Amino acid sequence: MNARPVKISAVGTHVPERVVTNDDLSRTLDTSDEWISSRSGIRERRIAAEGEAASDLGAVAASRALEAAAVRPADLDLIIVASLSPDMLFPSTASFISGKIGADGTPAFDLSAACTGFIYALATGASFVASGQAEKVLVIGAEVVSKMIDWTDRGTAVLFGDGAGAVLLEPAESEDEAIVGFDLGNDPAGVELLNLPAGGSRNPASPETLATGQHFIKMNGSEVFKFATRVIVKSGREVLARHGRRIEDVDLFIPHQANIRIIDAAARKLGVPPERVFSNLERYGNTSCASIPLCLDEAAAAGRIAGGELVLMVGFGAGLTWGSCLARMGELKRIQE
Ligand code: ACO
Repeated sequence: MNARPVKISAVGTHVPERVVTNDDLSRTLDTSDEWISSRSGIRERRIAAEGEAASDLGAVAASRALEAAAVRPADLDLIIVASLSPDMLFPSTASFISGKIGADGTPAFDLSAACTGFIYALATGASFVASGQAEKVLVIGAEVVSKMIDWTDRGTAVLFGDGAGAVLLEPAESEDEAIVGFDLGNDPAGVELLNLPAGGSRNPASPETLATGQHFIKMNGSEVFKFATRVIVKSGREVLARHGRRIEDVDLFIPHQANIRIIDAAARKLGVPPERVFSNLERYGNTSCASIPLCLDEAAAAGRIAGGELVLMVGFGAGLTWGSCLARMGELKRIQE
């Protein structure tokens, strides 16, 4: 797909300090560590402090990615932020982040594709670099989903967490360290299955929307579960077939971290052996657009991305949307702790 090859050259992440365990949740909700860990694989998540917004986490992740790459904020050509928990409906969280990191004057915008947002943003940023419209693009997934959750709804409260991850996209020296391709999709029949009903122009804020909890995430968990397992397999196969690769060629499979049962079922159907699947869901829960960059960073830290690996990333989320990115990784720069 590339007019010129594009690489993911650096990564930076940031999560809030506060750890909330399943036992913590079971003190206020009718739930248990046993239920949450056996049904989802989640044991704990990070929760932002009062007053901490998506741009606060995203800016730290962004600065870390830039520091790792030794790139100055002023050298960026574009900033794209994917988030379902933006600071405000407008201006964009990208605008807030550009101010915080000192990238004044750099074009910056948000992209909305729910939990698939990071893959959509990666595809958009890569197109700018591939076409020569940009040399350096920062793609950020930044989420404070905890502020969009009804903490009395056990069906959603136990699943999500907060965090941010950023990657830098630059022209690659060769195809040996470049993004191979993408598969993106959307099924609008699923808009009712996962959404935040009020606060937009369809259902503006009113005393009634407040009283009926319409400003919180609503989800049909079992339908989203079925969709997710089906679409990860379909999209993963699609991107591999489109670029003449087989599942055996994939060194590392990084799916969106929503539920370990979804990940295991999809990996099994795809034919990815467990040792090639990356998951950190246990410690972060579903961090939406931040989940894949958080995995990229930890995979690099663990030596599982050292250069040369073929990585398959697959996201899914509200829309219902899905997206896959197949990438041959070079060195993924990150700040050593
Ligand atoms: N603690 C204890 N019991 C619970 C909890 C809880 N936290 N939540 C639900 N239950 C109960 C239900 O009420 C139900 O009880 P009942 O049988 O008496 O009615 C029972 O547990 C089983 O509920 P199910 O919904 O059938 O449980 P399931 O095994 O499907 O797991 C879950 C639910 C974890 C939500 C699962 O469906 C799931 O992970 N779905 C996908 C969610 C997802 O990926 N969302 C993110 C998409 S990405 C984005 O864009 C944001």
